[in-house]
Amino acid sequence: MFYQVYPRSFACAENPDGVGDLRGVINRLDHIVGLGVDAIWLSPLFSSPQVDHGYDVSDYFTIDPTFGTMADFDELLDAVHANGLRLLLDLVPNHTSDQHDWFRTAVAAGRGSRQRERYLFRDGRGDLPPTDVVGSFSGAPVWTRVREPDGSPGQWYFHLFSAEQPDLNWSDPSVLEGFERVWRHWLDKGVDGFRVDVADHLTKDVDRTDVREGNSLLDHEPGNRTHQVWQAFRAVLDGYRHEPTAIGEIWSDAALYSGAREFPLTFGFPLLQAGWDSVAVRGAIDEVLGRGVSPVWVIDNHDTARSATRLGSVARSRALTMVMLALPGAACIYQGQELGLPNVDDLPEEVLADPIWEGSGRADRGRDGCRVPIPWSGTDPPFGFSLVPPWLPQPPGFREYTVQGQTRSPSSTLSLTRDWVHLRRQLPELHAGPMVWLDDRPDRLHFSRQVGDHRLEVLANLGDRPIPLATGEVLAHSAPVVVDGVLPPDTAVWLRPE
Ligand code: NOJ
Repeated sequence: MFYQVYPRSFACAENPDGVGDLRGVINRLDHIVGLGVDAIWLSPLFSSPQVDHGYDVSDYFTIDPTFGTMADFDELLDAVHANGLRLLLDLVPNHTSDQHDWFRTAVAAGRGSRQRERYLFRDGRGDLPPTDVVGSFSGAPVWTRVREPDGSPGQWYFHLFSAEQPDLNWSDPSVLEGFERVWRHWLDKGVDGFRVDVADHLTKDVDRTDVREGNSLLDHEPGNRTHQVWQAFRAVLDGYRHEPTAIGEIWSDAALYSGAREFPLTFGFPLLQAGWDSVAVRGAIDEVLGRGVSPVWVIDNHDTARSATRLGSVARSRALTMVMLALPGAACIYQGQELGLPNVDDLPEEVLADPIWEGSGRADRGRDGCRVPIPWSGTDPPFGFSLVPPWLPQPPGFREYTVQGQTRSPSSTLSLTRDWVHLRRQLPELHAGPMVWLDDRPDRLHFSRQVGDHRLEVLANLGDRPIPLATGEVLAHSAPVVVDGVLPPDTAVWLRPE
C-alpha cells in the first residue's frame, strides 16, 4: 500500500507562507502510519521555480526551500524508516525546468552548440514554429522561441508541457549520465525508490508534421532509447541491497515498460478512468490484469478531479476504494481520499495556480481542485493546515472532513479506510489468491479472492436498487450504517461466505 503526499497541500509547519513543507509531513507522519500503509510517495521536492509545483526541476540534487532543507529531508527519511515504512521520491526525467543549468547554458551557448543537444532545439519555418503540434496541457503550443546570444530571434525548443518545462533529448548520452548520478545520489541516501513521471515519454519524433497531438509523437517501440534508459535504471535499482523499487507513470501500454528488466510497478490507470460503470470498471480491471504486470491501483491523484466528486458521491468513492483494495497488486491512496474530500470546483479564478489555467488561455481551470490543502482540525479554515491562509483556500464545507473530526467517529470515511487497509494486511487471500469474477450483471461488481481455505467475496452495488447479500460474515462494509441482508446502492462489502 502506497500513500501519495502532495507536499504543498499536506501540512504547513515552517515558513509562514501557507505552503505545505517537509516539517509538516514529519509532524503529521502519525496520520499516515496510522492508516497502515507500507510506503509513501512524495510528489516533487527538488529545487524548482514551482511553475508546475515541482514537476519543473532546476536542480535534482537539492531540496526546494519551499519545502525545507536537506536536514529536514534526512529527518523525514529517518522517521519514515523508524516507523517501518518506505519512502519513494518523484523523478521527473522527460523535462527539466527552463531554469536548470543545462537549459540556461544551452540557450547561452547558441545554435549548433554541444549544450543544445541535451534538449530539442529546431529552426522555425520563417517566423513560424517548426510544426503545428499541440501539447499535453490543454492544447497549448509545444514550441517556444529563444533569443540567441546576440539578441536576435532564434531557435525554438520543444516542450510537451508548459514553456517552462523544456523536453530533454534522451538520445544525447550526457542526459543518461546526468540522471544516473541523480538516481545514485538519492538511493545512496537510503531512499527506497521513485515514482517516475511520464516514463513513456522520453522518445519522440518532434519533426513529424502529420499529427496534431503531441502525444502522437511518442515512440514506444521495444528496444528504443526509452527502453534502454529504463533498463539502465533498473540495473542501478537492482544493485542496491535495500531493494528499492519504482512505479512508472505510464498512460500507454504499461506492459511494454514492465517486468524484470524495466519497471517493477506501473499504475493501473484504466480503473481511474473507468468512472462509475460496472462494464467499464470490469473492462479496466481485466485490461490491467491481462497485461500480466504488477499494477499499483489508483482512483485518485494530484492530476484528476477527486473521486468523491467525479464518481458522483463520497459513498461511491468509498465503495470503489474497497474494490481497489481487494484487487491483486499494490494500491495507492492519494492524500485526502481517506477523508472522502470533494473536489473544489469553484476556486476563485485569481487563486488558480496550475500552469494549465494560463497555458490554455484561461479556458481550462486545471487541476487545483484536487490539490486544496488538507483540513486537519477545527471548524474554520485553514483547519490546522497552516497559521496563515493556505496557497489555495479551503471551502468552509471542509469542516465536515477534518482528520480530527473523523478520527472521533468509527463510521467516518477515515475510520473505515483505516479498517480496510489493516484488514487487507491480515487477509492472506488478498496477498496471494487469484481473482475470479462471479457475476457480470450491470448493476454490480462481484468477485472472489481465494487462497487455500481462505475465501473472500467482494460485492459492489453500482445499480440503483438494493441487492441481496449472500449469508456469511461481513468483514468490511463501505457504508457507515449496515442493513442486514441487503447491499444498498453505491456501497461495497467484503464478505466471508458461509
Ligand atoms: C505528470 C504529473 O503527474 C503532472 O502533475 C505533471 O504536470 C506532468 N506529468 C508534467 O510533469
